[in-house]
Amino acid sequence: MDKIRIRGGRPLEGRIAISGAKNAALPLLAASLLTDQPLVLRNLPHLADIATMTHLLAQHGTELSMAGEHPGGGHMGQVMELRTRDLTSTEAPYDIVRKMRASVLVLGPLLARCGRARVSLPGGCAIGTRPVDMHIQGLEVLGAEIELDDGYIVARAPGGLRGGVVVFPRVSVGATENLLMAATLAKGEVILENAAREPEVADLANCLNAMGAKIEGIGGDTLHIQGVEALHGADYAVLPDRIEAATYAIAAAITGGRVELIGARPATMEAVSAALGQANVLLRPTDGGMMVECGLVGGGGGGDGRGDGNGVKSIDISTAPYPGFPTDLQAQMMALMTVADGAAMITETIFENRFQHVPELLRMGADIKVKGATAMVRGRGGNGGAGLHGAPVMATDLRASVSLVLAGLAASGETVVNRVYHLDRGYERLEEKLSGCGADITRLTE
Ligand code: UD1
Repeated sequence: MDKIRIRGGRPLEGRIAISGAKNAALPLLAASLLTDQPLVLRNLPHLADIATMTHLLAQHGTELSMAGEHPGGGHMGQVMELRTRDLTSTEAPYDIVRKMRASVLVLGPLLARCGRARVSLPGGCAIGTRPVDMHIQGLEVLGAEIELDDGYIVARAPGGLRGGVVVFPRVSVGATENLLMAATLAKGEVILENAAREPEVADLANCLNAMGAKIEGIGGDTLHIQGVEALHGADYAVLPDRIEAATYAIAAAITGGRVELIGARPATMEAVSAALGQANVLLRPTDGGMMVECGLVGGGGGGDGRGDGNGVKSIDISTAPYPGFPTDLQAQMMALMTVADGAAMITETIFENRFQHVPELLRMGADIKVKGATAMVRGRGGNGGAGLHGAPVMATDLRASVSLVLAGLAASGETVVNRVYHLDRGYERLEEKLSGCGADITRLTE
């Protein structure tokens, strides 16, 4: 199994191209099931999760073809054409769904297009129980009959789905997306209340509208969808990954560096920019994306505020649905706080088991105490992370793994991150992007 070795302590300097958003690409791929016409998706990231979703689509009968290499080589910005002339299978098998929870996003499109679906329950997952009850209850409001059979969600809507008002009891990105896709082909109007407002949900809604759907209220918490007879093809570019961009912003900050995030979209990163601003890390829009600079105000660094001290200040954060601070950046922010000046209180409100990076960060010399959903992080003080030391570490989910890479970039000595397949699920060419800015980071292939 591959590992990543990092020798820390080098400030990052340079430019990093931001890939298409994984969490936007996955529902967009699932949306291709809604029509027999071709859907062309541009700016797809090259990631293990994307491969899992295309594998699932292929076994539903989707024909896939690929084009578009990134000019500099590699796979960035790849273009895929997907066409599902006929749904040859309406079953999403356990073997694929268990690998990736987002597979459940085929449920809404399958049911909407052909009135039946059999989708494995995603089951437990490293960051909590993550049920799908809101997906199921929402589809029932649209007239679906659903039962659970042997670990599978068996859904039927023989006469098609119908209009209705779905009020989500809690904000769920996946449930909003599943319902949004299902609603496009319903008979009548569907209203989704307390819908997730994440930019990835808006990206899906915009693509569905490009395919002929009638969705209003995009970006808000109430979505109105007028069902249509059929959707058609479209040509759509996936939005840039705000979580990837912010992860690299934190990489710049944790090393006291200066990095331009090419393609990053500031409007989708306001909570993160505000939080990092309070921490003395400036994110400012540029023509090409966003520039990250740190330690500019009263930092502990050298004359230019960089290099020998990151000047990052501790701040409290609490995760929340968009436009709040994303849970997908909680681990990375915690890594930053381990080297900041002061004490930070980090509260996780979305998932109940999302502090798996804590024991590993402790092994690297961090000072963190967890009580329930809150972690108290005492920073090692604006000295370029000299308080952390390298160690062999391992994490059990994507964002936890990347937080260990970030800690490794700041730590003295060598850090080896095991179980790199978690990183490959969500970060395209991570080691290339970081080493391009001067990090000493190498993939060790066994
Ligand atoms: C998506 C993202 C994930 C992110 C999460 C929260 C994708 C592919 N993944 O996951 O990276 O961390 O949003 O921003 O986009 N819940 C229920 N019942 C349900 C559905 C969800 O109780 O039917 C709960 C979950 O357990 C969790 C919370 O609601 O506690 C939010 O989950 P949700 O927004 O649905 O996350 P995902 O769509 O799975």
